[in-house]
Amino acid sequence: MCGIFGYVGTKNNASDLVLEGLRILEYRGYDSWGIAQLVDGVISVTKKAGRIPDGDISFKATTIALGHTRWATHGEVTDQNAHPHLDCTQKLAIIHNGIIENYDKIKVNLKKAGHKFLSETDTEVAIHLIEKNIKAGNPFREAVRSAFNEFAGLNAIIVMDAASKTFVAAKTGSPLVVGRGKGKENLIASDAPALINYTDTFHFVEDGELLEITQDSIRAFDQKTGQEKNLHWQKVDWKFASNDKGKYPHFMLKEIHEQPTIIETIVNQSIPSIEDLAETILKSYGTYLVACGTAAYAALAGTYLFSKIARRHVNYAVGSEFGYQLDFLKKGSLVIALSQSGETIDVIDAIKKAKEKGALVYALVNVLGSTLYRMADYKILLMAGAEKAVASTKAFTAKLAYLILLSYILSSQKEKGKRVLQKALSSTNRLLQNEISNIKQIAQKLVNKKHIYVIGRGLAYPIALEAALKIKEVSYIHAEGMASGELKHGPIALVEKGTPCIAFLPDDETHGANLAGAMEMSARGADIIGISFQPHEIFDYFIRVDDAREATIIPETVAAQLLAYYLAIEKGFDPDKPRNLAKSVVVK
Ligand code: F6R
Repeated sequence: MCGIFGYVGTKNNASDLVLEGLRILEYRGYDSWGIAQLVDGVISVTKKAGRIPDGDISFKATTIALGHTRWATHGEVTDQNAHPHLDCTQKLAIIHNGIIENYDKIKVNLKKAGHKFLSETDTEVAIHLIEKNIKAGNPFREAVRSAFNEFAGLNAIIVMDAASKTFVAAKTGSPLVVGRGKGKENLIASDAPALINYTDTFHFVEDGELLEITQDSIRAFDQKTGQEKNLHWQKVDWKFASNDKGKYPHFMLKEIHEQPTIIETIVNQSIPSIEDLAETILKSYGTYLVACGTAAYAALAGTYLFSKIARRHVNYAVGSEFGYQLDFLKKGSLVIALSQSGETIDVIDAIKKAKEKGALVYALVNVLGSTLYRMADYKILLMAGAEKAVASTKAFTAKLAYLILLSYILSSQKEKGKRVLQKALSSTNRLLQNEISNIKQIAQKLVNKKHIYVIGRGLAYPIALEAALKIKEVSYIHAEGMASGELKHGPIALVEKGTPCIAFLPDDETHGANLAGAMEMSARGADIIGISFQPHEIFDYFIRVDDAREATIIPETVAAQLLAYYLAIEKGFDPDKPRNLAKSVVVK
């Protein structure tokens, strides 16, 4: 949600650089965009509802510019409501992530004092309050600090001052990262990968920190007291990061195809960190998995893997529900938070509460320096590389790979765990080599369907849920995943001739019962898309997924991702940017 990019330096095409940065951040999801640039001592703004257009935009020469991609919260998606917003003098510009919960009260007072508002946003209140503080004699940094201290809610702001060519940034929520460029230039962004072309040295801005950024320096201050603080610079290894699609038409397809390499990397490089996590689990008084959306389905799969392989009970909750289930957390409990972005607010809130209860927090997270990464007591990086498509693919299968290895390590069968993942690797490679044209054809047959049902049992149940979510997200076809045993408890009432039903039928103990579910659907006229190790007479369509024991869930997922992707393509949608969705869900 809401991409941020700011440049101050000596290059005189700052607005182009900011535009390029915003394009890299498009994956976060947005509904409008804008850039403020300083020209001849006055700030001018280009901002529009909708997507950033392809091709060049002509900007005047400037050495300082600030951009934002907005995901609307306060006020509709309009040009006026897009950020940046200016003060009455047009000498200050602001961009903002979050919600200023007490904006209305502040706005009433500012209006009385004669400030003119051009948008319906809470953000605009902030810039007029800062303007008022400057008029009252405060220097710029102090004006921002004292305004920000008045805001309720979780917020991140960056303010540009024309007079001093300075950015001041403050935050209590939402990620911000600053990078030192080469020579006299400094940058700020919502995500480190946007700065990949400029630097590998970052400071991840802490909540409660205020930053002052000029072309010569970056300084940090305590937001509450104004005292100067030290910055913590970190080097980031960009080995797995890439901002382009390579030979693929979409990031989603590229990321689907990256999965074999990621699994191989996990098998070869992650064992020591997983062993460490296993030891912590063995010492804890109870383990809780917490995550949202796709990551929550990985966590749900974890409960089956722990039970089946490690013979251990593990609790599971989606982030937004965790707060209602944590009364029995105590010192010594372990919470494992799974998240691609490490910014999902419901997960962050959950671990804050867990920490208050004295629980230890382990993060399985993809983004280095993210809020979850920084808050967790211990962390494992997923090593899936930057995920750009809004719909999560490779981070999901990476989580599955970690959970499979973890379960095997917990049952003292590390080598077997590695072999099982090797099998998943072969099965996924075969699928990617041999099944794509088949999956495209199936997508063509399903393209006009209004509803798709997806069934699975045991380990394939969370995969059925994930398959349905992927289809919904990118093709906008209503898809419902369920445990196949639940069919006759209600959903089968919806089945009629031609209703598509995707059935996951791995070669495990669920096979017979699951097949029975598919047969019940078929008997009522459903078209069965069997995702299985072998064909069956009841299948109308068949996607072969070779067996990889418990890790069959990885190639099964990849088959579903490909089907979702080609459904989106058949329907003419952009699978990388599904409507209404943002990559990081940082507001409630
Ligand atoms: C679905 C999807 C979302 C995320 C969820 C959690 O494709 O991407 O459901 O999985 O918003 O996000 P992270 O993993 O970043 O915490």
